[in-house]
Amino acid sequence: MFSNLREDIKSIIERDPAARNGWEVFTCYPGFQAIMMHRWAHACWVSGLKWIGRFISYLARIITGIEIHPGATIGRRVFIDHGFGVVIGETANVGDDCTIYQGVTLGGTSLNSGTKRHPTLERGVIIGAGAKVLGSFTVGEYAKVGSNAVVIKPVPAGATAVGNPAHIVQKDVDARSANLFSAYGVTPNGDDPLSKALHGLINHAARQDEQIERLTALMKSSGIACSSMPECDKLNSVELNKLVE
Ligand SMILES: CC(C)(COP(=O)(O)OP(=O)(O)OC[C@H]1O[C@@H](n2cnc3c(N)ncnc32)[C@H](O)[C@@H]1OP(=O)(O)O)[C@@H](O)C(=O)NCCC(=O)NCCS
Repeated sequence: MFSNLREDIKSIIERDPAARNGWEVFTCYPGFQAIMMHRWAHACWVSGLKWIGRFISYLARIITGIEIHPGATIGRRVFIDHGFGVVIGETANVGDDCTIYQGVTLGGTSLNSGTKRHPTLERGVIIGAGAKVLGSFTVGEYAKVGSNAVVIKPVPAGATAVGNPAHIVQKDVDARSANLFSAYGVTPNGDDPLSKALHGLINHAARQDEQIERLTALMKSSGIACSSMPECDKLNSVELNKLVE
């Protein structure tokens, strides 16, 4: 539990230029507090203590202004920035490293209880302030949704969706589809070719790192000894991307 808290705080400091230190995040960030309370609420919900789960979620809403149904599945290092007015529905699934700004709704469009009614956000998605994502479709990894967009259809990985109804303005630009967070979702140095090339290389290396990790895990699980492979430092693409911004 404490390692979760530490990595949540670290990821908020990395993503919010206004965050000064861990204590400030712990005491003054409603998004952090809402996620922490959601973990308790969700644990109660899945172990059958439905009312307690609902009640913790209700208390979290009073304290933070953020409403997360205890049934919703929230990944690691999810950052709800500012957060007031965020609503996340029962069958929503929010992947690791997603960022959600104030006034966002991850809502349903059907009343069929017991079915998946709310969206799935894959890893690294950024949802701009006031956006509504409505329905049981998927927003692909590292996609961005513009502020005040109303999204009613799937968004491909790496794409940017804006407007009402939302349409795709940029599709699978390399820096978008990779492990890059940019504050407020805007493309850093969007017009600078050198910066674009460097982001491309860093993100490509980060993806290769991930692939190697998956391959090593697969080899280990199939009983192939990997002890002879030398350990090497993991590429910190977030920091490197910041350096070339
Ligand atoms: C959508 C977003 C991620 C795009 O950022 P970007 O990659 O830098 O893209 P650009 O600014 O180059 O915009 C691309 C196109 O989308 C349009 N656009 C950008 N944001 C839009 C929005 N919210 N609604 C409608 N259109 C939008 C631009 O006008 C541009 O259109 P054009 O190509 O016809 O000129 C960003 O504008 C956004 O809305 N981020 C969320 C910010 C937020 O919520 N901040 C709250 C902080 S408290």
